[in-house]
Amino acid sequence: MSSPLRNFAYQHRWFYDMVTAISALSVGGVNRLRKLGFNALQGKLSKGAKVLDLCCGSGEAAAPWIKAGFAVTGLDVSPQALALAAEHHPQLQQVEGMAEDPPLKANQFAAIQLSLALHEFNPEGRVQVLKTCLRLLQPGGWLVLVDLHPAGPCLKLPQQIFCALFETETALLMLKTDLPNQLQELGFTHVEQKLLAGQAMQLITARLP
Ligand SMILES: C[S@@+](CC[C@H](N)C(=O)[O-])C[C@H]1O[C@@H](n2cnc3c(N)ncnc32)[C@H](O)[C@@H]1O
Repeated sequence: MSSPLRNFAYQHRWFYDMVTAISALSVGGVNRLRKLGFNALQGKLSKGAKVLDLCCGSGEAAAPWIKAGFAVTGLDVSPQALALAAEHHPQLQQVEGMAEDPPLKANQFAAIQLSLALHEFNPEGRVQVLKTCLRLLQPGGWLVLVDLHPAGPCLKLPQQIFCALFETETALLMLKTDLPNQLQELGFTHVEQKLLAGQAMQLITARLP
């Protein structure tokens, strides 16, 4: 079940952007939020390497990678989001498809970014998406994941309100999951988690052996 406000946000871009801008204040603003994944892997990739932004939406979190000269593919299930991405970020190579089973060849990406997307999947879907990342990464490739984390005392109530208004059951289920542990169990190594925004967000980097 999703709230009417969530549906409204997905139908009206100005409202979606406004909600994103307000929630991004906790990490220092939208620009900072959009760069979290990119910044986390600085120095770990060679210039021009192939990067996949999985569930890229309109490509805002792909933009810093494109600007830095990486060869970025963006995959999303929503044609509307991809149309916006094409308008705003023409260098993004777009693929329409399901993140659980994308039409992409194995072992081709040096890095995969999952920005504010994993919480959209139910537990089975989440495992499928993470296994997809294992399949698509080159040996030694990096996963960077930015998503919700159970907030500390200061942001606990705002996070509950945000989730009730804009998220679905899948986000609540993800909040109960120890993602670093799940990544390790699935076969990722070098798993590192950073908590941001009064613990309301997590930034995780992990590596394919
Ligand atoms: C909250 S948005 C995040 C977009 C972008 N990554 C960002 O950081 O702004 C979640 C995105 O996941 C996409 N999505 C949801 N389920 C998907 C699926 N099964 N396969 C591919 N994309 C999916 C939605 O269409 C939406 O664009």
